[in-house]
Amino acid sequence: MDNQDNTNTNYSNHNNYGNDYNNNDKSDNNKNNNNKDDKELKHEKLLDKEYQKKIVERKKRFLEELKTEDSVFDSRTLLTLHSLLNGKHIDELLGVINSGKESVVFSAVKENKYFAVKVYRVSTCDFKTMWKYIQGDPRFHLRKSSTRQIIHAWVEKEYRNLKRANYYVNSPKALLRRENVLLMELIHDNNGAPSPRLKDVNVDYAKFYEIIKEDLKTLYNDAQLVHGDLSEYNILVKDDKPVYIDFSQGVIVQHPLSKSLLIRDIKNITNFFKRKGIECDYKELYRYITGEELRPIDEELANNY
Ligand SMILES: Nc1ncnc2c1ncn2[C@@H]1O[C@H](COP(=O)(O)OP(=O)(O)O)[C@@H](O)[C@H]1O
Ligand SMILES: [Mg+2]
Repeated sequence: MDNQDNTNTNYSNHNNYGNDYNNNDKSDNNKNNNNKDDKELKHEKLLDKEYQKKIVERKKRFLEELKTEDSVFDSRTLLTLHSLLNGKHIDELLGVINSGKESVVFSAVKENKYFAVKVYRVSTCDFKTMWKYIQGDPRFHLRKSSTRQIIHAWVEKEYRNLKRANYYVNSPKALLRRENVLLMELIHDNNGAPSPRLKDVNVDYAKFYEIIKEDLKTLYNDAQLVHGDLSEYNILVKDDKPVYIDFSQGVIVQHPLSKSLLIRDIKNITNFFKRKGIECDYKELYRYITGEELRPIDEELANNY
């Protein structure tokens, strides 16, 4: 869910860690060089050991910082993050990309691959809304359940929506979900820094509107998915193309709320592009995506969301 006041924070750490990481890459390559004499090899191994030690220390420090600075993370969440760091998926959490009311997104790295780790804050999630979205989804069969179960279903929903979306449009690959944590591919530039949001950069708006129009049509008709929280906040820009993120509120077209959410999505999109000087109309976009006229009754219902 989008907290429109979110600020991207703390990212300055990223490059420091990134550089260290590259140094290690170099030493790894050198290790394979058969022409090295023993002394050099020993030195390399020592460096490698030191590097490993540094990583372990950093992991510890990071988790300590999380514990003290971000007291909203309960111990179970810390354990889940710990298990991700100790497992085969990520080596290091690099820093916070974004800290919102309901979730915190970290960047992480393993070898030369970057990841985004989205952690839902168990204590501040809006369970009532979550429940409403999950309940009508035929993919989930939750009866009355605990808040934790609702959050798990929520993360599972985002994971499955991302998988589905990724097949048809530009979006991060979902890799793993565990408790209230989702691991996905990081959308990033050449230096490993996260890509900016559409809201924060200048693009060729006419071109972007056309791409987004096609993508929404594909999402609706082929992926049979409605994003549910689409706006310039949840579209990143990479290689001069849109990349769609934050599918947590996404529903399949069979969901009773899908029409209302689609109408809200396309109104957000056309409002944004109108502000950027592009001639567009939500009714026309609705017709283009669904092949139907927008009925006043559906529009009326959508005003409740
Ligand atoms: N896969 C990703 N790659 C790069 N940045 C990401 C990724 N996922 C999230 N972000 C960044 O984190 C922010 C918050 O993530 P989002 O999924 O939109 O959560 P929220 O529900 O808090 O809005 C995004 O606006 C974006 O800047
Ligand atoms: Mg968002």
